[in-house]
Amino acid sequence: MNRPHLTVEHITRQFQIDGEPLVALDDINLDIAEGEFVTIVGASGCGKSTLLRLFAGLDVATSGTIRHAGEAVNEPSLDRGIVFQEPRLFPWLTVEKNVSLGLLNSRLPKAQKSELVRDHLELVGLSRFANVYPYQLSGGMAQRAGIARGLVSRPNVLLLDEPFGALDAITKAHLQDELEEIWAKENITMVMVTHDVEEAVYLGDRVVVMSPRPGRIREIIPVRLARPRRRTSSEIASARDRVLKSLHATGENTQSQAKGSKPSDDGGRTERTVALAR
Ligand SMILES: Nc1ncnc2c1ncn2[C@@H]1O[C@H](COP(=O)(O)OP(=O)(O)OP(=O)(O)O)[C@@H](O)[C@H]1O
Ligand SMILES: [Mg+2]
Repeated sequence: MNRPHLTVEHITRQFQIDGEPLVALDDINLDIAEGEFVTIVGASGCGKSTLLRLFAGLDVATSGTIRHAGEAVNEPSLDRGIVFQEPRLFPWLTVEKNVSLGLLNSRLPKAQKSELVRDHLELVGLSRFANVYPYQLSGGMAQRAGIARGLVSRPNVLLLDEPFGALDAITKAHLQDELEEIWAKENITMVMVTHDVEEAVYLGDRVVVMSPRPGRIREIIPVRLARPRRRTSSEIASARDRVLKSLHATGENTQSQAKGSKPSDDGGRTERTVALAR
């Protein structure tokens, strides 16, 4: 795997709820390599979206640092696209205009922006629907428009927060494959939060398992399977079982063992953490 590209060092995020402090993320450490596909799973409320928002620069950590290509992340950047669980399309704008919002802060000439929008509508198979309004789209098409908006600025990182959570199984499988194709073709680093363990192991090079209250990394599980993967293969099933076991494990978090780890060099550590989680 390539050199680390996104680095998370000792990230903590504390909120105030009802005047009481709430530690949403506690000492998170993670290195993500350029071009890697990392998936993040964990119980509701364990801080997955909070972590993704920090990656995006939409929120600021209470302590710790996130770096993207060596630069501290403090604000949103065209280099990091984000796709939310709901497509978040503006109903009064056409699909094309919604996608072009991903270029709002771009200084590119107008003609180049239009070309990028056209290219990305094509990439997600929505060329024919450029001039329609969101209410005229199916759920899967709307989510594709959200993906096109996340990709249109040609970011080198795409952050996805449960992008397929609301879709039926068939549409979901289809979009997972499309996303994997885009990832392979465009060489983008993908960080995807998901509730769906099958999805996490089907798409991820590594699966980050988080534990709740406070949100910590319990374990990082590598999925060393060639692509394209077969959903029904026994290897996928055993990777899924491993993640499920970790998710349901109680007891100590093992984040301390993930500290300073290289994305390409996690084998021994992960074996140890799996043993602890069992
Ligand atoms: N802006 C905020 N103000 C106060 N508390 C917040 C804020 N954002 C998140 N939290 C708290 O941080 C914790 C983690 O929330 P987060 O949305 O990151 O969880 P999650 O893992 O994404 O959950 P889900 O799987 O349900 O989406 C929760 O306890 C939540 O109440
Ligand atoms: Mg969330």
